[in-house]
Amino acid sequence: MTKKTIEITIHCADSPIQLPAADATLLQKATQAMQQAYAPYSHFRVGAAVLLENGKIICGNNQENAAYPSGLCAERVALFYANAQYPNIPIRAIAINAEKDGHESLEPVYPCGNCRQVLLEYETHSGHPIRIIMGSARKIQIVDRVSDLLPLSFTG
Ligand code: THU
Repeated sequence: MTKKTIEITIHCADSPIQLPAADATLLQKATQAMQQAYAPYSHFRVGAAVLLENGKIICGNNQENAAYPSGLCAERVALFYANAQYPNIPIRAIAINAEKDGHESLEPVYPCGNCRQVLLEYETHSGHPIRIIMGSARKIQIVDRVSDLLPLSFTG
């Protein structure tokens, strides 16, 4: 047997001030969207902001429901809306942030597996890498492409 090692690069910052301006703006939009999440069951509010190649920013937040599986993550609310409105415009980046009971996360918020799969499909389909900015009140981590967060993926 042979062995393969997969490496990923994560850009790390301690504050939004250290980010390139475009990343800081996108994270700010995600943080604003987070505050309007509908999360009466988990009290975990998530915000996402998607930057398209045409410069438009589409925001989303998690939407919960008493029939639990009917809700949707912030990332997919934003991504599906973006692709519904601009089906042929590649996605350049997505920023994510979250708060629990009104306290902004202190650790970077990573997209769940389902959202990674959705992100990967848009990345693969468009042929353009999607930058992922995973925010919190302090630490921010960035990867340059979705495939970094979902290697060895199913693509159909
Ligand atoms: N949630 C997101 O919005 N994005 C994620 O990547 C993970 C989880 C939401 C779903 C649910 O409304 C709440 O966070 C608690 O799981």
